[in-house]
Amino acid sequence: MDKIHAVITGVGGYVPDYKLTNEEISTYVDTSDEWIQQRIGIKERRILKPEEGIGVSYLAEKAIEDLQRKHPFDPLTVEAIVFATSTPDYILPNAASLVAHKAGMKNAFGFDLSAACSGFIFALDVANAYIVSGKYKKVLVIAGDVLSVVTDTLDRNTCPIFSDACGVVMVEASEKEEGIIDSVLHVDGDSVENLHMLGGGSVHPASHETVNQRMHFIWQNGKVVFKKAVTSMADTCEEIIRRNNITKDDIRWIVPHQANLRIIEAVASRLDVPLDKVMVNIEKYGNSSAGTIPLCLWDWEKHIRKGDNVILTAFGAGYTWGAVYLKWGYSS
Ligand code: UT7
Repeated sequence: MDKIHAVITGVGGYVPDYKLTNEEISTYVDTSDEWIQQRIGIKERRILKPEEGIGVSYLAEKAIEDLQRKHPFDPLTVEAIVFATSTPDYILPNAASLVAHKAGMKNAFGFDLSAACSGFIFALDVANAYIVSGKYKKVLVIAGDVLSVVTDTLDRNTCPIFSDACGVVMVEASEKEEGIIDSVLHVDGDSVENLHMLGGGSVHPASHETVNQRMHFIWQNGKVVFKKAVTSMADTCEEIIRRNNITKDDIRWIVPHQANLRIIEAVASRLDVPLDKVMVNIEKYGNSSAGTIPLCLWDWEKHIRKGDNVILTAFGAGYTWGAVYLKWGYSS
């Protein structure tokens, strides 16, 4: 029998309606539209307001509806759901169970995967392993976050960056030479002091004190994280390129996590890849953590052709980082 490959057969996405502009952020922290555009590259980002809906499973449900419209499938044929998120609806039950119920995926099991901004590429690697093992043929990967609920609106180091969004991809078994080819994934837990949300876990369970100390918001040492993000994403892309015996010219698309336009440009420059090969939509949607990479695929789906070589790369809290190399399986 031919080797089984895991291929993405469709992309869906959803961003909430509310557009939070730089001007609005400037009304509650000392910043400006000019600073945010120049230093981060964001013009506006989407925020989930309670009037529209609540919980990341709401965004996932909408993204699955979008996937269904473009690439129809029978929900009963989905066997597994891997949901990458750091902002599940609840600590338990997991968001994957809620989505399976809402989307009628009665035959699927599922779980949440916590790897912060690298969640999508970690989840894709899990889906790939399930499929190439022969155990499952159809795995739904969901990645998204509602970062607005863990963003400190008094902290100008984080509040201009974070946003809410969700993307989904269907990953299916194929005997053709396509789909996921390789991955390089890493964690380094020696960095908690630089990027964290300390409250609400088993070390600092929610209390009046954790709330008063603003421990239920994400905090980062921006400069340190910036540098580490650039070198980590560039190095793992280089490693993928080297060990698959390809050149930069063989790559059609680099899809980086969208944390800061200057990070993206620095990664492209280190890789010596022109920016027209790099997917960027941070200016419209900000940093939705696990959501950014599938949201780029969603935004660019019409432009990606069957056979295109694509490298996805991410960096986030943990630290977690890595790259996934794949051959795109369809043209829209
Ligand atoms: O996705 C998770 C991983 N996160 C990331 O990858 C984010 C990585 N970090 C960053 O994107 C950037 O470090 C930030 C956007 C957070 C900050 O940008 P920066 O260019 O590194 O700014 P900085 O911290 O070096 O600060 C430069 C100046 C400082 O003023 P002084 O000391 O030079 O007078 C800051 O106080 O800019 C000031 N500043 C701001 N000014 C206006 C910092 N934040 C702001 C702001 N508006 N929002």
